[in-house]
Amino acid sequence: MKNILVTGGLGFIGSHTVVELQNTGYHVIIVDDLSNSKIEVLERIKEITGIAPEFHQIDLRIKQDVKDLFANTTIDGIIHFAAFKAVGESVEKPLDYYENNIGSLVYLLQEMRDRNIDHFIFSSSCTVYGQADELPITENAPIKPAASPYGNTKQIGEEIIKESCEAYGMNAIALRYFNPIGAHDSIKIGELPLGVPQNLIPFVTQTAAGIREQLSVFGDDYDTQDGTAIRDYIHVVDLAKAHIVALQRLLHKENKSSFEFFNIGTGKGSSVLEVVKSFEKVSATKLNYKIVDRRPGDITAAYADTTLAEKELRWKTEKSLDEALLSAWQWQQENK
Ligand code: UD1
Repeated sequence: MKNILVTGGLGFIGSHTVVELQNTGYHVIIVDDLSNSKIEVLERIKEITGIAPEFHQIDLRIKQDVKDLFANTTIDGIIHFAAFKAVGESVEKPLDYYENNIGSLVYLLQEMRDRNIDHFIFSSSCTVYGQADELPITENAPIKPAASPYGNTKQIGEEIIKESCEAYGMNAIALRYFNPIGAHDSIKIGELPLGVPQNLIPFVTQTAAGIREQLSVFGDDYDTQDGTAIRDYIHVVDLAKAHIVALQRLLHKENKSSFEFFNIGTGKGSSVLEVVKSFEKVSATKLNYKIVDRRPGDITAAYADTTLAEKELRWKTEKSLDEALLSAWQWQQENK
């Protein structure tokens, strides 16, 4: 049985990926500092899969703790989720973002180098493309200057991994996620935003649940069909499954270069108002929303060309926007 280290394994995407890993037969070792996750998620994972994952509460910024972890554990591959992810906060606290998102990455890669550990999967983001010149966005689209320190940590992170692969003979895959949403079918795990949600779907579900009074739709004067901005919303379970196929590609040595990157989205763009309508339909609720000014830094439209992932990873999404929104709504109702 292969041992897979999952950093940030109690977070939103991490926890769903741990479930898929365990269901596929991997032994999972979770590392999480609980800075943006809850320990109860561990029990939920056990309820879903019947297996309690190995867990270590470790802050990956502490180099000695990272060293000790690797000294005491056999690791065949790493899926690295642990990172800060709030765009606005990153503008206010850039050094915190570089220390956490880049520092931890470097420490992990150093351990991989020193212990001849191969196989690394990195959580990247479509944010590396900025407002792409052509839609849908292929992996050939140029990387645009990052609009935030958060986005920069994803760009720099990819570069560090690529250079490490070339220098030390490791193999890695970066998955450039579009907008992950939804919750596990069991409704035992999902997104747990801290404070006022910044992302659209948690704000929508909290508004419908009466926790927030009104959803602000940021701008209806974009150059899109209904004037609201377009994104590619992917069900988190589909996204989690992409990590399994990417890991298997590395373990089976099917990768075509030492560092590869893939877009992970549905290929379909949805406007904010389309999301609102779809949500109202699946939840049978009326959403209180108003149109306000654009949010600074937002782009008009982003959705994935998934041709490469379909061909090379033999993966594509299976779940619809309606299904994702329904699961997000059910999860919200569990977590009032
Ligand atoms: C944001 C980040 C992105 C990150 C992703 C994680 C920015 C610029 N980008 O993407 O780097 O990887 O989250 O999921 O922040 N919206 C509203 N009202 C709201 C909230 C959002 O109208 O209350 C709109 C936004 O203007 C946008 C869409 O909904 O058009 C999606 O927003 P959001 O969920 O925040 O994701 P992104 O901004 O695409």
